[in-house]
Amino acid sequence: MNIEKVGVVGCGLMGSGIAEVAAKSGFEVKVREINDDAVEAGRKRIRRSLDKAVEKEKLSAEDRDATWERLSFTTEVSDLADRDLVIEAVVEDLELKNALFGELDGRCGEHTIFASNTSSLTITDMAAATSRPDRFVGLHFFNPVPVMKLVEVVRTIATSDETFDRAFAFSKALGKVPIAAKDNSGFVVNLLLVPYMLDAIRQLERGVASVADIDTGMTLGCGYPMGPFVLCDFVGIDTLYKISEIMFDEYREERYAPPPLLRRIVAMGRYGRKTGKGFYDWSGEQPVPLPI
Ligand code: CAA
Repeated sequence: MNIEKVGVVGCGLMGSGIAEVAAKSGFEVKVREINDDAVEAGRKRIRRSLDKAVEKEKLSAEDRDATWERLSFTTEVSDLADRDLVIEAVVEDLELKNALFGELDGRCGEHTIFASNTSSLTITDMAAATSRPDRFVGLHFFNPVPVMKLVEVVRTIATSDETFDRAFAFSKALGKVPIAAKDNSGFVVNLLLVPYMLDAIRQLERGVASVADIDTGMTLGCGYPMGPFVLCDFVGIDTLYKISEIMFDEYREERYAPPPLLRRIVAMGRYGRKTGKGFYDWSGEQPVPLPI
């Protein structure tokens, strides 16, 4: 059975990107958020991104309008009952995700595939709590979703070949490059990326160099598109903290443990670009390093 109707739950940074890319690729997409304000914020975020693409002549006005037509929004989980695929992109909280999948499980058709965009929880912990572990995969996208080409397609020991193949084909239909990953916390990319970001924070704690100099070092010295602290601000410092706690819990290895400074910055509400402040102040034209 082909995937035509897609549901996206959560319309934050990742969910809005996933919904936008799926609608642009011709899928009929229904987005669910928890209340009208969140729906409005998500709708605006997607619209802004599509308008920007038109301004930059990456998308024609006709294609934007057609994409917009394929998108709809709801606050009701039951409105996703007819979907062929539902992708969850809510916050990294297993209880919340399981409550959501429990609700979806009772409402969606037998054929509906469930996918989670989690970056660090295991797919197994969600799939095992539903009646369809064979129709459950991980679809892990990267930020910013419209730009980053990779999708990690994650299978558990219960995922059927058919489900995996359909999820893999779906990722290709979005114009992405899928890779197959086993269901270990962090999959492939975060397993390597998260310790790197945490290590940068540890080196800062040790006073090796300043935020700006470490970032300049890694961009100009290694050709990375962003230094580790800009990347922390970009991913969300609260998100990085949650991811590292989950990965540390899974592996009990020091390399995944959140450094104290990370916890302090989260406690101050400096979550990165989304709140205007993280390692940098993002309120001006150029980011300015903040006192640490
Ligand atoms: N939506 C759509 N397009 C965007 C965009 C967005 N949010 N952000 C940037 N772009 C586009 C720009 O329009 C621009 O397009 P053109 O070249 O056609 O004009 C292009 O991307 C490059 O953007 P900029 O020139 O503004 O800036 P840049 O060269 O620094 O590129 C970047 C921006 C693509 C984000 C680049 O800095 C980059 O690749 N950074 C690393 C991102 C990364 O590592 N992401 C993974 C994060 S980890 C994660 O997501 C997983 C997890 O679980 C934590």
